[in-house]
Parts: sequence; structure tokens; C-alpha cells
Amino acid sequence: MRVLITGITGFAGSHLADYCLSRGDAEVFGIVRWRSRTENIEHLINKIPLLECDLRDATSTRTVIEEVRPDFIFHLAAQSFVPTSWRAPSECLTTNVLGQLNIFEAVRKTKLGCRIQIACSSEEYGMVLPDELPIKEENPLRPMSPYAVSKVAQDLLGYQYFMSYKMEIIRTRGFNHTGPRRAPVFVISDFAKQIVDIEKGLKKPVISVGNLEAKRDFTDVRDTVIAYFLSLERGEAGAVYNICSEKCYRIREVLDMLLALSDAKVEVRQDPDRMRPSDVPVLLGDCTRFRERTGWKPRISFEQTLKDVMDFWRKK
Ligand code: GDD
Repeated sequence: MRVLITGITGFAGSHLADYCLSRGDAEVFGIVRWRSRTENIEHLINKIPLLECDLRDATSTRTVIEEVRPDFIFHLAAQSFVPTSWRAPSECLTTNVLGQLNIFEAVRKTKLGCRIQIACSSEEYGMVLPDELPIKEENPLRPMSPYAVSKVAQDLLGYQYFMSYKMEIIRTRGFNHTGPRRAPVFVISDFAKQIVDIEKGLKKPVISVGNLEAKRDFTDVRDTVIAYFLSLERGEAGAVYNICSEKCYRIREVLDMLLALSDAKVEVRQDPDRMRPSDVPVLLGDCTRFRERTGWKPRISFEQTLKDVMDFWRKK
């Protein structure tokens, strides 16, 4: 089976590549943008052909897809950090929406008939009302950031291309996921790195935080990528699936759990620059649909994930 991963140099992409290789039945190809950092896949460089391509360029996208002729495409490349989307909204929309459109058009025009997973997001649900929890796939989408709007657009384009052309598109709405290699701008990796920097004496014992009241549903990335794979193996074309742990934690609680893994004594200080123009208050998912279809359930506990993230930064 030929597998193409967009965003392979990123966090989820690199873990998905590890998983695909560990299966032994997949020939894995990755798309990299010129000058992108490859530290997450240094250990894979000799095992995976990496093809240079900018998904915002239709010609370059089509060339790569014609060359690889994949059976499965995992489309993970994106501008994925929510705050950046307020600073550079058009860049976020262009990267996320146009990149995906170019993949769809390339697959359509080459009549490949491959299966395509698109990484949509729980951020699309946005303003969820208290009586709508846990969130099911039918919940209204009320996006609260340009990033979330870009993901709604990707999601609906996936639906539209399935309806119009019967393309084998499966939409996964991933809730928060974390683990080793997560860039230290995302909350858990950010807090863990700050704590470890304090332990190492590299930073004053003050930890900067944003909104600690939000609640998020976290899955370990190593479980999330198995779900992505299963979505193409067993998912129904045209369907949308929540991928989540069905548990949520307040960010303040997550910070306390991380602090409990360290002897460092720290002062917690809110940094106004870390507050967002609007922040989704609570994301707690229901993934019954995906579980029933594929049998997937997360295997790694949240506590283990937090330990692994701390260890990742301690060894870095
Ligand atoms: N990054 C960050 N840094 N977030 C903080 C901080 C901080 O210092 N303090 C509090 N938070 C809060 C944020 O306001 C948000 O409510 C929550 O922690 C999680 O923030 P992120 O880790 O940045 O993730 P996100 O929820 O905005 O988005 C992630 O999950 C989405 C799925 O729900 C990203 O991975 C997205 O790409 C993904 O689609």
C-alpha cells in the first residue's frame, strides 16, 4: 500500500510516519516544503522518500501526486496554531484551504481513486453550549478563530468533493492531541518546557500562562495517528468522525499535574499576550461513531502522556 503524508515534518505527521513504518505493510512518502525544518523526522530521513512540494502551488501538488500515485493520502499539513491565525488570517486561510483544494483537484484530475483523510478540528465546534456536551458530529459549527474558519472550510470542501465527485474523502475532527515532539507553543508542551527550563536553571522560576479556565479533551498523539490510519482503513467515504478521549481537563488542572511532576518551585503569572481575542471555553467530545465503526480507543493515559512530554524536554 502506498501512503502519502502531507505535513510529515510536523508533529502528528512524524508520529503517523512512525506508525505506518511500524506496520510493515505501507510504503510511505512524505511531502516537505522547501526549507522546512526536519528535526521531527531526522530518524526517518533514510527510510522515507521526501518530495519537495508547496501545496499552495497546484502544479507542484499535481506533480507529486502523479509521481507517488498513493492509495492513501493523509492530509495533515496546515497552519495549526490558533493564535497565529489572528496575526496572519489570510496566510492561515490560504495555506489550509488552498492547499487542500489543490490536493483534491490533483486527485480528481488524475482519476486516482485513492482514499483521502483530512485533518479537521474540534475547534470548528467553537462556541459549544452547556447542554450540547459531550459534542457529537452533528453539533452546530460556531467557529471562534480564523483557524477554526479555515478548518470549517476544509471540512465542508471535503463533504462537497465527496458529494460532487464521489471522492473517497474521510473527515476526522481531531480534538487536542499532544506528546513528545509537540512544538512548545501549544499549551502542554509550552508549560512542560518552561518547567524543565526552570529545573535546568535556564529560566527564572516564573511560568507564563494564558487562559487557565478553558477545558480541553486531550489524546496522546500516538493514539491519534492510529485513529487517522483506521479512518482510511475502515471509515466510510464522505463521513466525519470525532477523534477524542471523551475526557476533559481544565488547563489550570493540567498545569497543576505538570507541576506535580517536578520539584521546581514556580510562580504562575498570567501574560496578557497569551490571551486570545476569543477562546473556545470547553471542548469535550463524543467519539461513539468512530469507535463503533473502527473499534479504536485511546491506549495511553493522560498521566503517561504528561510524563513523556516532560521527559522529552528533559532529554532535549
Ligand atoms: N498555547 C497556549 N499557551 N495555550 C494556553 C496557554 C499558553 O500559555 N495558557 C492557556 N492556554 C489555553 C488556550 O487559551 C487554549 O484554551 C488551551 O490552553 C489549548 O491551547 P493550545 O494548546 O494552543 O491548543 P488549541 O486548543 O488552541 O488548538 C489545538 O487543538 C485543536 C483541536 O481542538 C491545536 O492543536 C489545533 O491545531 C487543533 O485543531
